[in-house]
Amino acid sequence: MEELKQETLRRRTYAIISHPDAGKTTLTEKLLLYGGAIRLAGTVKARKANKHAVSDWMEIEKQRGISVTSSVLQFDYDGYRVNILDTPGHQDFSEDTYRTLMAADSAVMLIDVAKGVEDQTKKLFKVCRQRNIPIFTFVNKLDRFGKSPFELMEEIEEVLGIRCYPMNWPVGIHGNYVGIYNRREGQVELFDKDGGHGKTIRSSSKASLDDPIFRETLGDEVFQALKDDIELLDMAGDAFDMDQVTAGELTPMFFGSAMTNFGVRNFLEEFLRLAPPPVARQASIGEVNPVEQPFSAFVFKIQANMNPAHRDRLAFIRICSGKFTRGMPVFHAETGKLIKLAQPQQFLAQERNLVEEAYPGDIIGLFDPGVFGIGDTLCAEGQDFKFENFPVFPPELFAKVQAKDSMKRKQFVKGMTQLTQEGAVQVFRQPDSAVEAFIIGTVGSLQFEVLEYRLKNEYGVDLLIDRLAYSVARWLIGEEQDLSSLKGIDSGMVIRDIQDRPVLLLSNEWSLRWVEERNPDVKFLVVPQDARRV
Ligand code: G4P
Repeated sequence: MEELKQETLRRRTYAIISHPDAGKTTLTEKLLLYGGAIRLAGTVKARKANKHAVSDWMEIEKQRGISVTSSVLQFDYDGYRVNILDTPGHQDFSEDTYRTLMAADSAVMLIDVAKGVEDQTKKLFKVCRQRNIPIFTFVNKLDRFGKSPFELMEEIEEVLGIRCYPMNWPVGIHGNYVGIYNRREGQVELFDKDGGHGKTIRSSSKASLDDPIFRETLGDEVFQALKDDIELLDMAGDAFDMDQVTAGELTPMFFGSAMTNFGVRNFLEEFLRLAPPPVARQASIGEVNPVEQPFSAFVFKIQANMNPAHRDRLAFIRICSGKFTRGMPVFHAETGKLIKLAQPQQFLAQERNLVEEAYPGDIIGLFDPGVFGIGDTLCAEGQDFKFENFPVFPPELFAKVQAKDSMKRKQFVKGMTQLTQEGAVQVFRQPDSAVEAFIIGTVGSLQFEVLEYRLKNEYGVDLLIDRLAYSVARWLIGEEQDLSSLKGIDSGMVIRDIQDRPVLLLSNEWSLRWVEERNPDVKFLVVPQDARRV
């Protein structure tokens, strides 16, 4: 028990959220550099561009220069075991991002100093808010000219509605900073010139602000400006309150530059100190405490064909409680079966290792023979419960999809089934359709491209995709048997989900209200009643 407690308390599992190009890849890489997981920065980025290393299972990443899939990276720093969940950074929002955030205990919000709060940041922030997880802010690209620190604080508070507590403060002339002031320690850290182009750890010197050397080095004007800023922050700014941070009401804010390794160490150390270890999660038996319950986990992501040569399928699980050991039998609540987890995988800077043991907060990949679904719960033998609140998102974009070449029907159905199980898209059938076609529902249009690309590359099937002019889907309860009695649905379309439940597609919320008013005895559900398995 003692070991479990210690291991749990040193875990930090978080996701970095940002708008594309804010520097997420760069920061992730620098954290790995400072954590000693890589020796020279440049490896992750170089690999990002190398199709045979990271993304050969999905060239689309390279073609579009975006990261479509999430990966998990682990490293140790100063006694902590750090798990970084990489959220897809593309503009188009997908359910994958939400699910990844389900597996995180906190989030780091990355902001470009020149651009401030951008669209994607807003959306992701909203999800973190709903989950009530602590949010830390890293203002990046401080080596460039951008908005002033006070301006950014104001923007974050106004646009996102969260108060900011700067943990450090840039030192120097705006646009040409030379160091940071650490408010907790009352110390200034001045950086030496970035001789290694950000590839290696940057040296710096630290001393108390009262040390006369700073006045000398910085010059009277810069020194006085820093003192004034600090005084203003202390007097007029929010006080640091850990309870507010935990509740997601106050964000500890850091300034730095991932590219030039400016303030990266300070961020990592303070973040690890403040970020929460795994906490209790809600399940059907009440709260599941990470150290009091035996092993439990949930599936938050399924990925097929990571290696096209093997056609393997991995289910990523987040451990919520207890110790995991390789080969242990676990109970899969959804099928009611005991499964032996023989080949668990962990990912270190994109390389796979076999896991012998793991603890709450850790993410592992399991070879999935096709039994796992997203949101499924795994628990220790003798236990039987399910984790709650796993989000299911109603699709908003629809298309009719069929194989161009009808001879490829078999591969087409196989590929579609596979991608549905992964949760990449939701699949429906049009009952009276003569040809083998599916109706696909997604939450973002990029998913159609991903579908098209993967069907071609992994199953050799060219698709015909016809977008449909609907944006609202409702599961129908009450009139399942007699759909012909539904009134006012001429402009809509009734389809069936994979469990043969009727779903009504409509063009907009206005038509929905029209139909709802005319059919008072029918319930129109946003998600199916039993939404655990999609
Ligand atoms: P992302 O994963 O959030 O999309 O961002 P990524 O790290 O790929 O960074 C986007 C661009 O911003 C990259 O430039 C990167 O070098 C740059 N960048 C990241 N951090 C900093 C920083 O602290 N300061 C400055 N000035 N730039 C930064 P790029 O030109 O698109 O790519 P590259 O040629 O540098 O690889």
